[in-house]
Amino acid sequence: MAQNELHETAKAIVAAGRGILAADESSGTIKKRFDSIGVESTEENRRAYRDLLFTTPGSEEYISGVILFDETIRQKALDGTPFPQLLASKGIIPGIKVDEGAKPLALAEGETVTEGLDGLRQRLDEYRGLGARFAKWRATYSVGDHVPSDYCIWANAHALARYAALCQEAELVPIVEPEVLMDGTHTLARSFAVTGRVLQAVYTELHDQRIDLRGMLLKPNMVLSGYEASDRAGVGEVADATLECLYRHVPAAVPGIVFLSGGQSDEDATAHLNAMNAKGPHPWHLSFSYGRALQAAPLRAWGGKPENVEAAQRAYYHRAKMNSAAATGLYAPEMERETVTV
Ligand code: 13P
Repeated sequence: MAQNELHETAKAIVAAGRGILAADESSGTIKKRFDSIGVESTEENRRAYRDLLFTTPGSEEYISGVILFDETIRQKALDGTPFPQLLASKGIIPGIKVDEGAKPLALAEGETVTEGLDGLRQRLDEYRGLGARFAKWRATYSVGDHVPSDYCIWANAHALARYAALCQEAELVPIVEPEVLMDGTHTLARSFAVTGRVLQAVYTELHDQRIDLRGMLLKPNMVLSGYEASDRAGVGEVADATLECLYRHVPAAVPGIVFLSGGQSDEDATAHLNAMNAKGPHPWHLSFSYGRALQAAPLRAWGGKPENVEAAQRAYYHRAKMNSAAATGLYAPEMERETVTV
């Protein structure tokens, strides 16, 4: 039954010690990442970079799913195997980013609403045909003195739920990603309050729009102090605040919560996830769906040079392994110094 397939896929993505690689950077974002290492963002360079990540030997031990971008789901490994089939052959579930980005919200200066609902039903059918079994849609909220507004919170919650309903109709597990941005000087308490309001609105809309909570995953931010705040909360406080926020607002029927890394350092993103799992068990699996916190190290190691592919794969494998340990609460910073053989 379709419903069981959604449940099974959602559970498989958050199976113990496994999480998601978010490799769904849009053309603009991947260009920024390539600019940072002095590599031109050509279609072949993007393909080669994703190829090295997806073919990393052993990464499937720690990675259950990969989120692809529209271009990437149509690309192939060097041997001609389409990326979704390559991933599936390793036991990694292919997913797809389906939103079309955060655009200015009318009559709400500085706020955004995520677009992409028009024609989404047809696109989801096509992506399923290409091998995708889950999808992602990201809404973003800036924190300031007067933002986010209720208008922004509810406009995005409504769109996230419309997207989720269309995904479930198409037999794709929706990953619902409301990201409260951590740029700014705000306190942990403010981050906690805003994240809670956002999650409350999201689950109200998901309920009203008939989403099967057992067949979805939540991808939230962690509750952090603003990156420019003067007195930033430590690992224990972040774990406690994030858990309290999730316990208040996320129903236990949701099988998993896969955090975004949101610009945290690699080791912070790992330590925070670990601290939360060390306080478990929880009603939901807590795992990762990291972009930058899994890719920063391999991207630097690669530098666009074919001779660096193995070093880049070692760096990616190591971060995946560290985050896998954090997903079971068994990470320790000393493990960062382990030598890696891929
Ligand atoms: P980061 O982990 O780099 O925040 O990316 C996750 C993601 O998928 C953002 O939409």
